[in-house]
Order: sequence, then structure tokens, then C-alpha cells
Amino acid sequence: MGKLWGGRFSGVTDELMKRFNDSIGFDHRLFRSDIQGSAAYAAALAESGVITQQEAEMIRDGLDKVRLEFESESFEIQPGDEDIHTAVERRLSELVGPVAGKLHTGRSRNDQVATDTRLYLLSEISKLGLAVKQVQAAILTQSEHHIGVVMPGYTHLQQAQPLLFSHWLMSYFWKLERDNGRLADLKKRTSTLPLGSGALAGNPFGIDRASLAEKLGLAGITENSVDAVSDRDFLAEFLAWASILQVHLSGLAEDLIIWSSREFGFLQIDEAYATGSSLMPQKRNPDSLELVRGKTGRVVGHLFGLLMTLKGLPSSYNKDLQEDKEGLFDVIDSLSVELPVVEGVIRTLNVNVERMSASLDDSVLATDMADYLVRNGVPFRRSHELVGKAVKRSEQLGVSLRDLPLREYQHIDNAFGEDVNGIFDFRASLEARDVRGGTATASVREQFHRARECLEQT
Ligand code: ARG
Repeated sequence: MGKLWGGRFSGVTDELMKRFNDSIGFDHRLFRSDIQGSAAYAAALAESGVITQQEAEMIRDGLDKVRLEFESESFEIQPGDEDIHTAVERRLSELVGPVAGKLHTGRSRNDQVATDTRLYLLSEISKLGLAVKQVQAAILTQSEHHIGVVMPGYTHLQQAQPLLFSHWLMSYFWKLERDNGRLADLKKRTSTLPLGSGALAGNPFGIDRASLAEKLGLAGITENSVDAVSDRDFLAEFLAWASILQVHLSGLAEDLIIWSSREFGFLQIDEAYATGSSLMPQKRNPDSLELVRGKTGRVVGHLFGLLMTLKGLPSSYNKDLQEDKEGLFDVIDSLSVELPVVEGVIRTLNVNVERMSASLDDSVLATDMADYLVRNGVPFRRSHELVGKAVKRSEQLGVSLRDLPLREYQHIDNAFGEDVNGIFDFRASLEARDVRGGTATASVREQFHRARECLEQT
């Protein structure tokens, strides 16, 4: 069988042009959704009387066989198979004969590929959504397990205030929870049927698009055929989702990488997720997390790539749109491995509890000292300045705030009383922050409760 569009051509396609034009090398992975869409379309053609029920059945039986060939990896791609759509139709006609030629009535590869990609993405979204939830579950489990552990919290990578380790870790749970929300939201718009838009003008055979959508499990149908064949917003949204997710994961990776260095020593990545050096025998490198961080450039790059492809296209379908797939597949492939790896890293994380609390410097209590002065009637701006002076003095004398003599404090201001010592308690500092969303144990336990509720929702 020759090309599907060969009728008006008399010359042959240049060999390099053929390689350049073909997408079968990557879009074969749409086979399942292509066949699913075609089976539903055959039923719609029969319903509107374009083909008989018997013909529709022959087509559907044939399509089933084609699908089985793909699933058992026995499908043989032929040199004339330009893309997944032509490959499936070519094989169908070999299996069921000339009736296969009726399937494409009123349909174009333009509305077909848009439908296939949406169906494909929807099934991938479900898997990725689950994988994100598993990362969240690992975060929650580790946080619950380490509820008592105190560590320095950082801003600008400088010690800032004491935190519960669990409070820090849970911060990533909520980032991922927003990612879940974005995924659910883009899923709604992806779940729209372009089939029935034809090449760009619509379908002249009275196809019932609403019932087609229902058959394919899609929530709605597109309202404008010109828009429908060119709309790739759902892919841009997906890649934007993946990009934001990557930014979250790379932040988590960076925290864990730096904290697993000898200088911090707060934690250790399990050997299952680390690698050694070919030269330096002592090395145990957090490659898993470096790759997580590194994938970010690649994923965000695919978002930019797609947006550049879409920018300034003339109306309706243009072949540029074929470029929408490889980036998409690459992002899905990356995340499908990356998310379970992140889950594993967190699940097996070794936390050095002593090292974390031992690294707390008294200066992380400076805010508490200022708050102490506020309670003694000093306005906050003034107390901030007085404590700043105390910090400076302690640095001059080379002692910690705790060891700065009372007379030095009182030399700065009489508002410092003997009871200033009472603030030197890391635990008390964090327990004081018992607002909802704060780092106090009770607040963090409340977070666990809400987090569990989120995980239980499907
Ligand atoms: N392989 C094409 C794609 O991925 C299918 C649509 C082709 N349409 C066309 N008019 N040539 O976009």
C-alpha cells in the first residue's frame, strides 16, 4: 500500500525528506489511544449511518488485532508508515481488507492526533499523580518518625531560628500538594474531545461528538474546530506543571545534598541511592539527588521548546505541531523514574539527630531575646537593636550569647534582667511558635493530620 495521500503526487519523496517528515519513530507510543479513538470513531460512523454495524464490527475486530500486535511487540513497522495513524490504518487494511478504507471518513489526522495525544496524556497523568502522592507519603512517614528532632532553620543559608526537622521536611509536602492541585486542574482541560473537527472545518457526516466523548471517557467537546486542531495548551500546561514540580524537587534535592556533606553531616543518603567515584575510594556521592536537580533544566527546556514552537503559528494545523511530542515523552519518561527515586531517597534517609541539634548556635535565639525584651516593655524596633548590640559584644569577646555576663547585657540596657537566661532553650523557642502552620510540635502534628487527609483524597 502506498502513501495515504499519494493520489495527487506523481514524483517520489526524497529519502532524507521522508526521514525528516516521519514521526513513527517516536509517536508509535500513541498506539493504544490511536486505536481506542479509531474504535470509537468507527462506532460513531455506524451510528450516523455512514457505515453498517457489521462494517464497524469488522473494523473494531481488526483494530483489536492491531493493538495486540503492538502489545506483544510483533507489529512490524513498514517503510511507508509515516506516523502511528498511517501505520495502524495500513495494518488494519491488511487484516480486514477494503472496509478499513472507510474508517477515515470525515476524519483528518489533525483531529485524530489531537485526540490521541489528549487520551495518552490523561492516562500518564493518573500514573504521575500517584507517583507524586507516594513521594508525599514518604515525606509524611519520615516526618512523623522524626517528630522530636530539633535543627537550625536557615534563611540565606545562615542559621535563623530553631525548627523541628519534621517541620522543614513537611514544607515539601505542601509544595507537592499544590502540584497535585495543578495537575487535577489541567486534567479537566485535557479531558476535551477534538475528534469531529476534521482537518479544520468540522465533520459533515452528522457524527455525534457528545456520545463520542462519552465513549472515550472525556468530560467535554471542543467548541471550535479551527482552535481544536491547533490547541496544544494542554501540553504547555502539563509541561509547566512538570517544570514547577521539578523546581520543587530540585530544591528538596539541594537541601539534602548540602546537608549530606561532611561540613553539615545532618543526614546520609542510603547507599541504594548513592554512587562511588572511579578515582577517590572514599566517595559516596548523592548522584540520585544531583540528577533530580539536573533534570530541571531539561524539563523546563521542553516547556520553552513547545512554547517557541507554538508562538506565531498561522491558524489551525501546521506540521510544526508534530514537534510537540518528543519533549512530552521525554518529560514523562524522566518523571516516571525520578519520582520513585525521590520517594526511595526520602524513605531510606538516615538522619543524624545529634549532629543537627549540636550545630545549633545560640544566635538562633536572638529573636527570642528580642521578644523577651518586648515582654519587658521595650518596643520591638528598639529591642532588635539592643540584641544586635549584645550579639556584637559576644562576638568581640569571643563568647556565645549564653556566656555573655549579665553585666555586659545590663551595660547595653537595663531592660535585660537576670531571667534573660531563660531564653536559652531551643526547644522552648520552637514550642512557642504554636500558631497553625508554625513549628511547635502541636502545630506540626496538626499538619500531619491535614496531610493525611490530603493523601486519603483520590
Ligand atoms: N504526525 C502528525 C503529527 O504528529 C500527524 C498529523 C499530520 N497531519 C497532517 N496534516 N499532515 O502532528
